[in-house]
Amino acid sequence: MPSPLAGKRCLITGASRGLGRELARELARVGGELFLTARDEEALARLGTELQATWAAIDLADAAAVDHLAEEARSTLGGIDALINCAGVFPVSTLADTDLATYDHCFSVNVRAPFQLCRAFAPDMAQRRWGRLVNIGSSSAYAGYKDTSVYCASKHALLGFSRALHDEFKAHNVRCYCVSPGSIQTDMGRHVRGQDFSTFLDPVELATFIVELISQDGPMITEEVRVNRMVIR
Ligand SMILES: NC(=O)c1ccc[n+]([C@@H]2O[C@H](COP(=O)([O-])OP(=O)(O)OC[C@H]3O[C@@H](n4cnc5c(N)ncnc54)[C@H](OP(=O)(O)O)[C@@H]3O)[C@@H](O)[C@H]2O)c1
Repeated sequence: MPSPLAGKRCLITGASRGLGRELARELARVGGELFLTARDEEALARLGTELQATWAAIDLADAAAVDHLAEEARSTLGGIDALINCAGVFPVSTLADTDLATYDHCFSVNVRAPFQLCRAFAPDMAQRRWGRLVNIGSSSAYAGYKDTSVYCASKHALLGFSRALHDEFKAHNVRCYCVSPGSIQTDMGRHVRGQDFSTFLDPVELATFIVELISQDGPMITEEVRVNRMVIR
């Protein structure tokens, strides 16, 4: 049985490394047609060659560049059927040491860019009556952890945004998900303090799970998922 994602045009942010790169590999494996983005041109070029995918390097903190990216992805692939907002930043500092620039940057990448891209593509998906809006949240969407107040706030915001889009677009057969993992074995995971990196989620296993989740195409949906690791002692 071919995947419901086969032949679907997918835009993946944060594709240069970590979870985004593994999501790109898994979406390519099930037959998606991919447009990749992040800032690191070399990494994107390598992955683009590996997966025969189009890519564009941009900084998601630049609102005008995000709008331009949406136009480029649309004109290159002729439209986007699945948007995967995976890029994220994880500022770690006490409240006293967190300045306004850090707040603005974190919200620009973690919340504003997903908002811009969902706004750019959701109406087309609704018109075609098929679509996937996938926002990668975090355990920090459900809890507050010290020294990461702005990150926690941004992921709570992304969860609220996703819940609203789920409700707004479900009648149009556009499924909006917020997938919220615990710590993952990626570059970002290395900045998580006080936990054992070797026990963190495997990004390949997680990507396989997410693609399976968003492949479900029947009358049932699991739009909000928390994914945590089993640490068996
Ligand atoms: N790692 C964890 O423990 C963990 C836990 C829960 C949730 N998450 C979430 O999972 C998602 C993926 O994280 P990860 O662990 O894969 O992180 P990662 O390895 O640090 O990768 C982050 C990705 O985001 C991109 N990115 C960062 N800033 C960007 C910017 N200004 N413009 C464009 N792209 C930017 C990076 O690409 P460039 O550097 O090339 O721009 C990279 O591809 C994030 O949303 C994160 O919040 C992670």
